Amino acid sequence: MPTKLTWYGHNAWLLETEGSKVLIDPFLNDSPTSPVEADAVGCDHILLSHGHGDHLGDTVAIAKRTGATVVTNFEISQWLAGQGVPADYAIGMNPGGGVDLPFGRVKMTIAHHSSSFPDGSYAGVPMGMVVETGGKRVYFACDTSLFMDMKAIGDASLGGAPLDLAVLPIGDLFTMGPADAVEATKLLAPAKVAPCHYNTFPPIEQDATAWAERIRRHTVAEPVVLQPGESIDL
Ligand code: NI
Ligand code: MN
Repeated sequence: MPTKLTWYGHNAWLLETEGSKVLIDPFLNDSPTSPVEADAVGCDHILLSHGHGDHLGDTVAIAKRTGATVVTNFEISQWLAGQGVPADYAIGMNPGGGVDLPFGRVKMTIAHHSSSFPDGSYAGVPMGMVVETGGKRVYFACDTSLFMDMKAIGDASLGGAPLDLAVLPIGDLFTMGPADAVEATKLLAPAKVAPCHYNTFPPIEQDATAWAERIRRHTVAEPVVLQPGESIDL
């Protein structure tokens, strides 16, 4: 079965691979663009990039209902125990660390951003993630600015490996915008690149079709622009 990736709007994704269902940053019930409700999604793992409400989203409710393992930073993994998510069901990490899971390997990357819980308390550092599964390698930048070290993620001579897909924010204001996401694509050199973290709210409205044209003109990557609810086979 091919590895399938479905966009739930913003930075929420469902990866179906190797018999697993892996949710990423499940901001669903309060998202204006999510095509699904938190009660309706099944998963066995949740990958969570940082503590902001538009990423943490429905993590606690979904983890409690499904018993999914939450893979996130150390501080959030500790906080989840206080929210009633059993400690056995949280894996706390930090950038640079990797973990082998039933569906493959997840390695956390740096991300230049902030990270706090909805009440303002410290939520550890924000992270991106590289997921290796089903013979594919996918980088989710999550909330970040452009940074030169992105080059290492897709470059075997710098400890990385070629990427089948890079998922990049293009919304601007809180993360990199369209122009920097083109530069990020040049550094990462993925086979395909998908935009996210835009058009969820008015302040981050962007023209993804125009951005895809810039990707075609200036990079080697094939742009993949999804609508919320749409999927690609990796
Ligand atoms: Ni954020
Ligand atoms: Mn965000």
